[in-house]
Amino acid sequence: MLGVRLTGTGRAEVSPRLDNHQLSQLVDTSDEWIVTRTGIRARRLVSAEQGVTDLAVQAAQNALAAAGLTPFEVELIILATSTPDDLFGSASLVQDRLGAKRAVAFDLTAACSGFVFGVVTAAQFLKTGAYRRAVVIGADVLSRWVDWQDRRTCVLFGDGAGAVVLEASAQDRLLGFELQNDGSQNACLTLAYQGQPRPLIDDVTVTLGAYQFIAMNGQEVYKFAVKRVPEVIEKALFRAGLTSDQVDYFVLHQANQRILDAVAAKLAVPPERMLSNLDRYGNTSAASIPIVLDEAVRSGHIQAGHTLVLAGFGAGLTLGALVCRWG
Ligand code: UT7
Repeated sequence: MLGVRLTGTGRAEVSPRLDNHQLSQLVDTSDEWIVTRTGIRARRLVSAEQGVTDLAVQAAQNALAAAGLTPFEVELIILATSTPDDLFGSASLVQDRLGAKRAVAFDLTAACSGFVFGVVTAAQFLKTGAYRRAVVIGADVLSRWVDWQDRRTCVLFGDGAGAVVLEASAQDRLLGFELQNDGSQNACLTLAYQGQPRPLIDDVTVTLGAYQFIAMNGQEVYKFAVKRVPEVIEKALFRAGLTSDQVDYFVLHQANQRILDAVAAKLAVPPERMLSNLDRYGNTSAASIPIVLDEAVRSGHIQAGHTLVLAGFGAGLTLGALVCRWG
């Protein structure tokens, strides 16, 4: 078995920006409520002309440039998204637009855990020697699926994309991981299909329809995250033979600042080692982890040799954590 290194990050620039004061004109909410309960001050939303594919291509291009690779050198592209531009998948279009002619590309759906699931999936291909260079993209445009009249959900989400380059290497820098599902809590967070019966002929009926808005039982998801995320991180750390005090930065899915604070407290991690950009982006689903990661790498906070924990949680319910050494 070969090893895996993470060698570059990138993100897409998304505008316009929608702040809490503007949102307060749409629904009965306030900047004070949103900041106190979530830590979010503003989110970014794609323009009407943009889609997930556009954001994913931009994030991947920036990650490849950071890694010093050309698209032609990429052999695998995994697009973690729950909001593809096409239900058949958007990864093929990303492959084409990138000019990654040699790469196999596919979508992976695991909601807000999608990026962590994607990195672990890509790593398996690299460790077996099947491929040598992969790009994992987390991209979501949840603004298309939010009920903008529902204050319980519309204040939380934003659009975005981030990406990371993985390369096969003699030394393994993916030190441990743990992925989990709890389908028994599936109803807590859904973007569900709703079809109307349409009789075709004799006793044959199909359904035709569309997807409902995002529906969430916020308190249940909150409890799930605060209890299970520290556990999944501990398991990944155990596999890596490390403890939380040996980790330089925790890069968690950005859903709520209170969740980040509670996880940090449970793991006895000082706040400055729990990265957050929630105030500026809100919850960008599969994109949130690679966006925070990219910001921290480009600002110089994360440096070669640093030990990182990446952890995601969300619809499914899904959760996962991985431990890696950067660079
Ligand atoms: O990425 C997917 C993972 N998702 C998550 O991790 C989300 C996890 N859950 C959460 O982050 C929190 O549960 C929320 C931020 C969604 C909600 O915070 P909360 O402290 O659990 O609030 P709540 O749902 O208990 O609501 C408290 C009150 C309610 O009013 P009453 O019934 O006490 O009169 C809500 O109607 O706040 C009200 N409320 C609002 N008020 C102003 C709910 N949303 C809003 C709002 N503005 N936007």
